[in-house]
Amino acid sequence: MRRLFPVTDQTVTTGSGGRPPGAPDEGGGAGGGAAADREWSLDELADAYAYPGPGPGGPVPWLRANMVSTLDGAAQHDGRSQPISTATDMRIFGTLRGLADVVVVGAETVRLEGYRPARARAEFAERREAAGQGPAPAVAVVSASLDLDFSLPLFTSPLVPTLILTGAAAAPDKVASAEKAGARVVIAGDGMGVEPDRAVRALAELGHTRLLTEGGPRLLGQFVAAGVLDELCLTVSPMLTVGDAQRIAGGPSVAVPHRFALVSLLEEEGFLFSRYQRPDAG
Ligand SMILES: NC(=O)c1ccc[n+]([C@@H]2O[C@H](COP(=O)([O-])OP(=O)(O)OC[C@H]3O[C@@H](n4cnc5c(N)ncnc54)[C@H](OP(=O)(O)O)[C@@H]3O)[C@@H](O)[C@H]2O)c1
Repeated sequence: MRRLFPVTDQTVTTGSGGRPPGAPDEGGGAGGGAAADREWSLDELADAYAYPGPGPGGPVPWLRANMVSTLDGAAQHDGRSQPISTATDMRIFGTLRGLADVVVVGAETVRLEGYRPARARAEFAERREAAGQGPAPAVAVVSASLDLDFSLPLFTSPLVPTLILTGAAAAPDKVASAEKAGARVVIAGDGMGVEPDRAVRALAELGHTRLLTEGGPRLLGQFVAAGVLDELCLTVSPMLTVGDAQRIAGGPSVAVPHRFALVSLLEEEGFLFSRYQRPDAG
């Protein structure tokens, strides 16, 4: 992997601006480019994706999303994101989890992708302890229906109790089932649904300020529309799928496009790993 932006000594600087992977080396052996294009350690990735530090008044919530999209904008293939991902994308996915206090995810993604509890990984243990975090992030499932299988390990045997974000009008019997399974139900809306800004506030009140959402598109669209998304870590997968797959963010369009600023761009084998932030965030 190499860094394309901001430009540093890790950026390939060979004559024409880099070659496609596998192309013959015209530059006479291992030049700067070959040296720059190498596998990054998890520590290096964690440094590259560090959350902003606390503000003058203490920690403030920072909501980051991590999503993958094909060149033609598909956020899934055959109902899953795995076919459009790659090993390095999954390393970054794991790193972002390793840095987060909580992973916020829509119920449909939990159902379709068979979500399991987040693991405690030795590679991030020291960093998490220094940051005052437990060994693994909590998973917070956003659901109105609470139509979830509470017998799954995500609810019965996580390292940190799984949170369920829902509205005050959620069915009491489903709330009871969730709690009986060991989940913690957090009300973040007056009706059936969760209000995105309230979800962020409710998580912050529980001490979770390094927030990571892994989608899906319907949930991410609401965070975007509510103006509470601070950062998008977007993997652009060098694939075309055609079809009618969802984009990374769905729902009613915003009145005026929200402009984000590029803060970092990494590349490996044609996959682009970008990081965009809200210009007024932080
Ligand atoms: N490309 C990527 O990076 C990526 C990432 C994640 C997922 N995906 C793909 O996206 C697809 C699933 O995404 P999706 O957009 O259909 O669904 P989603 O956003 O994962 O989940 C939608 C569900 O979340 C709950 N929800 C959303 N907003 C809510 C609110 N304001 N209040 C209460 N509950 C709310 C509802 O659950 P209830 O129905 O339980 O009420 C809703 O049905 C899958 O195919 C998955 O593979 C792709």
